[in-house]
Amino acid sequence: MTIDLAALPHDFLWGTATSAYQIEGAVTEDGRSPSIWDTFSHTPGKIDNGDDGDTACDHYHRWREDIELMRRLGTNAYRLSVAWPRVVPGGDGPVNPKGLDFYDALIDGLLEAGITPSVTLYHWDLPQVLQDRGGWPARDTAQHFASYAAVVAQRLGDRVKHWTTLNEPLCSAWIGHLEGRMAPGLTDLAVAVRASYHLLLGHGLATQAVRAAVPGAEIGIVNNLASVEPATDRPEDVAAARRLDGHTNRWWLDPVHGRGFPSDMREVYGVELPEQPGDLETMAAPLDWLGLNYYFPSTVADDPTGPAPRVRTVRRLGVHRTGMDWEVEADGIERLLLRLTKDYGARKLYVTENGSAYPDVVRPDGTVDDPERVAYLEQHLAACASAVRKGVPLAGYFAWSLLDNFEWAYGYDKRFGLVHVDYQTQRRTVKGSGHRYAEIIRAHGGRGRSAA
Ligand code: IFM
Repeated sequence: MTIDLAALPHDFLWGTATSAYQIEGAVTEDGRSPSIWDTFSHTPGKIDNGDDGDTACDHYHRWREDIELMRRLGTNAYRLSVAWPRVVPGGDGPVNPKGLDFYDALIDGLLEAGITPSVTLYHWDLPQVLQDRGGWPARDTAQHFASYAAVVAQRLGDRVKHWTTLNEPLCSAWIGHLEGRMAPGLTDLAVAVRASYHLLLGHGLATQAVRAAVPGAEIGIVNNLASVEPATDRPEDVAAARRLDGHTNRWWLDPVHGRGFPSDMREVYGVELPEQPGDLETMAAPLDWLGLNYYFPSTVADDPTGPAPRVRTVRRLGVHRTGMDWEVEADGIERLLLRLTKDYGARKLYVTENGSAYPDVVRPDGTVDDPERVAYLEQHLAACASAVRKGVPLAGYFAWSLLDNFEWAYGYDKRFGLVHVDYQTQRRTVKGSGHRYAEIIRAHGGRGRSAA
């Protein structure tokens, strides 16, 4: 398929993304304390096959090899997350120098390889000690997050300019505290709403902390937004689609844009927010960019007796699906990029995650052939380029993921990597999609060509 690469800016960031708990392993090394994901993954029945992140991709020891892989792919950026329990094992208070040393060396290694680091401060691994003190539903957690953010920014900020406060706070709040499918595994709407509020407060406070510590920092927040359509044009289904849009998109976007929390959703939840004067201003601390994580579209119908937001996903027939059973629809990414530009006035956007899982195998000749992932990648990049032609200020694309890794409650069976990982041997093999990504990046950098 043709991708209109000439549409993309010449300094476009071509990246891959990972997160600490999904790849690092070494969970008891060098002073790291347990996170809520250590607790959750070791709770029987929570993770498929009883998997956990204890070893994951052993990136903590193999990071040099992984940078070499990035270099082979030709990427010029890498989105990583810092594990809070490595850096501040007590959640707040004393800093663990060895934890910071690890990221310090990783950043140096990336820069030596000509790869721009993009650092996410929170990708779901809250120190368990803070969960024991109330977790995100407690206001203090937001302040502790900002203190930890300052520590990381002060150490890495001389070399890292690209910062993300939170990755997908929706998952932390809604999946972790309402649906219970992610750590900490709670199922309480009032608790989930409080968590959502303090996550956004923590985002604002951390934004201020990074801004103060790093001159010239470019700070953003990463949301996994939904491209929502009603299953029918019945008013009930149209209203259901509006509620899912509120739950997934507007609840997370409006406060950081100074619009407060959407009143229709406050009514749907019927939960009082733990508001204090000045909080909304803090949440709306100015940002330099917005990150979009996009995987699949959502078609929904009304579910009057279901839990908030009272919607039911409708399975469309005849649509291609990934190994996650997620529908493939590249138009969704273009619609969301356009919406962020038009409705929220975004001046700079990144696709901070996009990718697909399939059950890849290493063939006897040592290669991994993954044509479905190649097609997914091409279709979504083509949609991004089309969005840019329509005026979207897209500055980069980060493929999820560099490596196959620990896919949370699904364990290791779901493989999202451009690089295959054999978990027995930790052997890495670049998949066909990784080679294709490298070819696209080269074609863009070649500039003599306008399409790949
Ligand atoms: O693996 C996750 C990642 O941690 C957050 N975004 C979605 C990915 C795929 O499910």
